[in-house]
Amino acid sequence: MANVVVIGTQWGDEGKGKVVDLLSAHAKRIVRFQGGNNAGHTLVVHGERFIFHLIPSGILYPDTRCLIGNGVVVDPEVLLEEIKELVDRGIAISPEKLGLSERAHLIMPYHKAIDIAREKAKGDSKIGTTGRGIGPCYEDKVARVGIRAVDLTELDILKEKIRANLGEKNFYLTNLFGCEPLEYQSILEEYLSLSHELSPFIVDVSMELDEAMRRKENILFEGAQGTHLDVDHGTYPFVTSSNPVAATACIGAGIGPKGLGSIVGIVKAYTTRVGSGPFVSELTDDAGNYLQERGQEFGATTGRRRRCGWLDLVAVGYSVRINGINHLAITKLDVLTGLDPINLCIAYEYQGRRLESVPAKLSALYNCNPVYEEIDGWKEDISGARAFEELPKNVQTYVRRIEEFVGVPVSIISVGSGREDTIFCKNPFDDTTA
Ligand code: IMP
Repeated sequence: MANVVVIGTQWGDEGKGKVVDLLSAHAKRIVRFQGGNNAGHTLVVHGERFIFHLIPSGILYPDTRCLIGNGVVVDPEVLLEEIKELVDRGIAISPEKLGLSERAHLIMPYHKAIDIAREKAKGDSKIGTTGRGIGPCYEDKVARVGIRAVDLTELDILKEKIRANLGEKNFYLTNLFGCEPLEYQSILEEYLSLSHELSPFIVDVSMELDEAMRRKENILFEGAQGTHLDVDHGTYPFVTSSNPVAATACIGAGIGPKGLGSIVGIVKAYTTRVGSGPFVSELTDDAGNYLQERGQEFGATTGRRRRCGWLDLVAVGYSVRINGINHLAITKLDVLTGLDPINLCIAYEYQGRRLESVPAKLSALYNCNPVYEEIDGWKEDISGARAFEELPKNVQTYVRRIEEFVGVPVSIISVGSGREDTIFCKNPFDDTTA
């Protein structure tokens, strides 16, 4: 048995979907454990483009089973739409193929309404959320008033919970934000109909994983977002509401810490961020536009233009520490082709002092300057390379410097968007030292 956890080391959008898709070929089960449909994973398989928000990216393999763990917040309407879209494109999705944890919390219409109303009220100080109701749903989970997937199978409880929650949410929405109240009857009818369609998918994910581990099956845990969007370890308050770090695979899927094997950190060859918040190596010049355009840096969920900058190794090193990363996967390396020189951010400078880690104090982070190390760029098209040795010397130097700086070897290098545009140096599932 080997389990692998895939984690974003930056602010999300590192290209986790492609790596999860590749690693899925070696796994029997693929599990999402946090976040919700704020995520957007784009895959290109045989020239066809797929975007998933909730369903694990491994769904395209015929023999894998995909699971949505208890730590995920699920918008039932979005899940059903994704299932339908896949079915329309000829990919069979049945309860044998996909399972939803009975303990996963459901995103309700009032969560979305609150998310949107709050952001609007915040004006310039908004977080720039995806507006999908993620934060308000996690708030209700912790406030112990959330509605869980299992409630879809107990309709009396579902009705009672919707009624109780709606009274409070409508008071909040109308009195604080001047919004129209939401209607009980229409929400109830919508969720009753959704419950009918979703019930067959509802399972005990923790139990299933335990049984799979006893059979020594390979399991892949698919993180969403990135470490710097983590509510504890990220650039708070400009973060998401979950913990997109490796340890969450245990809590959000229901397994013990010893069940985690290799931790693969996904590092995009440069840095991007959507939404507000500090970004030390951000580029607002031609190089930034080059990365944005060549890298097609638009949010898969909201379509927003992503902010772009040089690779921030301080941020990546921090993620290596928080997650215990022992494999790196470098993505979108081909996007850097044509830029010369290329900069790597190797430290921050704050009030004349050199910082080696990300400060917790937001005002300090906003005023940090990047300390750059210059690397020679390259002009060659690298998208056809299938072995490390086939990469031009300057590309090899860039990759080796990343490895050396963060102290973790690179196992996977992505040089294009297709499945085949990949250099596999080492398969994390074969790592017996993990
Ligand atoms: P929320 O997760 O919708 O509450 O948004 C909070 C912050 O996390 C915002 O800055 C979003 O842009 C960011 N965010 C959430 N999900 C993703 C993602 O999958 N990729 C990149 N940024 C994300």
